[in-house]
Amino acid sequence: MNGVPVGMPKEMTVLEGINSLRSVRKFNPDQIPEDKLKIVLGCASKAASGSNTQPWEFVVVRDATLKARLKEPMLRTWLERLAGSSGMSPRMRDVYDEATEMLRNTEKVPVIIYCCVDLNRVGKSEEVKYASIYPAVQNLMLAAHALGFATCLTVHGSTPTRGEPEVKKIIGIPDHVKIACLVYLGYPAVQLSSPKRKSIEKFVHYDRW
Ligand SMILES: Cc1cc2nc3c(=O)[nH]c(=O)nc-3n(C[C@H](O)[C@H](O)[C@H](O)COP(=O)(O)O)c2cc1C
Repeated sequence: MNGVPVGMPKEMTVLEGINSLRSVRKFNPDQIPEDKLKIVLGCASKAASGSNTQPWEFVVVRDATLKARLKEPMLRTWLERLAGSSGMSPRMRDVYDEATEMLRNTEKVPVIIYCCVDLNRVGKSEEVKYASIYPAVQNLMLAAHALGFATCLTVHGSTPTRGEPEVKKIIGIPDHVKIACLVYLGYPAVQLSSPKRKSIEKFVHYDRW
């Protein structure tokens, strides 16, 4: 297998996937085939976690009515947050405008996935909690990308000030389960260039700071 995960098309290597993964916020309405979605979730489940506790739970929402209900608390708290922010650069403003637009269109995005941590299954240390879910989320997004889907990670619904209590109530997430983040997933309606990042010389330290 040469380290290529099951289901990953041969034409996109892991390195190509990592180097081209972007946050896409515009999706076409085509539904995601069930078998492909299972591959994506299976790849998420191969991630590392503290003591292999695998504390993740994924709530996959495809029902448009449900998505519209979930949007309400997430959009309201996002707009409240935006109203309280100031001094944004024009570039950041553009990203926020696109982020708001995606959120407004939540019910039209084919799949939204709440990525959650079961607090009863994760170690007691605070530092292990989220460190045990984000590798799985990154796997999920890379696998989706490799299969030709687009994703955007957001933290909508992940804290009380982002609508978490209402979101949890709507989809029945129990008290001992915490929403870590939300991934929007669908076929891309736009093609984006490679990610823009700082060069490694700006943040890598060899032997000492
Ligand atoms: C923890 C985290 C929270 C994010 N929250 C949002 C969000 O609320 N809305 C959104 O549209 N994108 C969100 N993003 C995506 C980032 O905006 C995006 O990764 C960044 O702008 C770089 O763009 P790129 O991934 O296309 O290279 C988030 C990403 C991370 C890792």
